[in-house]
Formats: sequence, C-alpha cells, structure tokens
Amino acid sequence: MKIKKKEPWNISENEVTPQELFENRRSFLKLGAASLIAGSSIVEALAKDEIPVANLKYIKDKNIDNLKLNTYDQITSYNNFYEFTTSKEKVKTLSDTLDTNNWKIQIDGLVEKTITLDFDDLLKKFALEERIYRFRCVEGWSMVVPWIGFTLADLIKYLKPLSSAKYIRFETLVDKKMFPDQNRGVLSSISYPYVEGLRMDEAMNDLSLIAVGLYGSSMPKQNGAPIRLVVPWKYGFKSIKSISKISFLDKEPLNTWQKANSREYGFYANVNPNVDHPRWSQAKERVLGKFFKQKTLMFNGYEEEVAHLYKGMDLTRYI
Ligand code: MTE
Repeated sequence: MKIKKKEPWNISENEVTPQELFENRRSFLKLGAASLIAGSSIVEALAKDEIPVANLKYIKDKNIDNLKLNTYDQITSYNNFYEFTTSKEKVKTLSDTLDTNNWKIQIDGLVEKTITLDFDDLLKKFALEERIYRFRCVEGWSMVVPWIGFTLADLIKYLKPLSSAKYIRFETLVDKKMFPDQNRGVLSSISYPYVEGLRMDEAMNDLSLIAVGLYGSSMPKQNGAPIRLVVPWKYGFKSIKSISKISFLDKEPLNTWQKANSREYGFYANVNPNVDHPRWSQAKERVLGKFFKQKTLMFNGYEEEVAHLYKGMDLTRYI
C-alpha cells in the first residue's frame, strides 16, 4: 500500500489509539479531552457510551490510506445476517439468541489432522492486529470497519492442509434455536448452512482476515460472533459469519448465493465497478451515514494487493 506523508497538524481519529481511549475512557472524558479531537467518531461514540470497553489486545493499524471509520453504532445496527431475519435493522436485537460459549470449529478435508478447535484456545495462539478495511456490500452500500483479528494465512499455516488442497470452504453453525430463521426459512431461496469459499491463493493473501472483534472489543453477535471471515476486495457476502466448520478441498465449493441464483452471484464476487449486477449498477456506493454516493473502486481499492490473482481471467465471466 502507498505510504502517504502527513502534516503533523492533520491527525485523524485513527491515530488516537482506541484501546488507550477505551481503557481510560472515564478519566479521558472527565478531563474534557474529547473536545480536543472533536469530530472524531470514536470520541463521539465514547461520549454516547456506545462502544463496549475494549477487551482485546492488538497491534494498531497505522491507517496509511487515512480511511474515515464508520461509527460503532453504524457498523452494528445495519446488518445482513439471514439466519436471524431479512431486516437489516432487526439483526441487532434478534441475534441475542446466539450463544457463543464453548464455540467449536471443526476442521476437515485435505488436511494433516482433522480436528475440532475450541475458539477460546484458538484465540490464545495468534497475536491480534487491527485491520481498517473498506467493506462493500453487493447491494451498493459500504462502510469502513476497524476489524480485530489475525490473517487467514496464519490460521491455514497452523492447520497444515495437504498440497492437494486448492480451495478452502467455510460453514456457519446450524442451530435452529440460536438461529431462528434456519427454522422458519423466511428467506427460503437460501439454504443452510451458509457456505462460502476461497481459492487457496486468495485465502493466503495477506488481506484475508479471520476477525474476532471490532473497535477493540469482541465481535458483536450481529456482526458474526465469535469468529468470521473478512475479505475486503470481495462483496460482503463472501465474508461469512459465525464460522463452525472449515474444510480443505480440491474442487471449488458451491457457495450459498451462487447456489441460490447463479445468474446473479458467482464464486469470485470481486468488487468490480465495471461489471454490473443484473439488477443494479455497481459503479457507485453509498457509505453508511453519508448522503451522496461515491465511486466504487476496482477490487474495492485493493487492486495493488490482489489484481495479480486474477491475471488472464475474464472478470465479466468470473463474477
Ligand atoms: N454470513 C452468514 N452466516 N449469514 C449471512 O446472512 N450475510 C453476508 C455476510 N456474511 C451473511 C453472512 C452479507 S450479504 C454481508 S453484506 C455481510 O455478511 C454483512 O456483514 P455485517 O453485518 O457485519 O456488515
């Protein structure tokens, strides 16, 4: 990524360490220090007491692209999580039934050992880092999120897949008590478990993240607690939530949305402003909280990091 030189007076909210702010939130606010960096979304959210106390230790993202974060409230109040509801505004309250205690992740397929991982143990094995990423939904809205997690590449190296593994497949837990819509099937066009996948070289790219939190604290239920995938150069539906199974395969897995409607959704789902969705344009996007639309960037702004993965591929065909 390009390094941008910044003037000393032009300090963005992202250069204020969220963790330090959270840990000292009371004294910080008492001192009235918030006014010194007025306009900062972190400080605004803190003042409204909306962000849970940071419980994760992580290395901070330097945010060299100077992305403006969406607020905690925006990120956690407008969600797609069909296992609960098709209403973006209701996910926040309906996801209360998700119980992340004793969360397990089954590992199988073309791998040295087929094992079941315990989420709490897994968390201790990796150093966490913050990744401030653009996140673009295929529906035309977007946001900027300070995720906390570790690279999928690190997890894959730890799991030791066989050389015959060419793809990785993820599944969300099926539990009709926790995920009421798996029972009712309100959105009957998609079947459960929710499935997603990546080609192995995509999975090993340094941008592919296993996220366990955001804004310094554990992943909110509505955003895919306790552990989800984040692939910032692809449409949001690739970023599968509440992962309970990871499989290594030699063939391309059939992901949920391609299974539901292969004319509209493919396996790759790379953000591409030049290839429209059959029902809407992908040229522009509305950032949550903003009125005017902005231009969508090729590979969601991560062209430098990922374009080489698709060299020679016809991107109008591989949607
Ligand atoms: N994962 C599961 N298991 N179920 C879902 O319905 N929705 C996807 C993706 N991951 C979804 C999912 C879609 S369509 C999007 S846009 C993102 O999650 C939304 O993530 P967010 O709610 O954290 O913004």
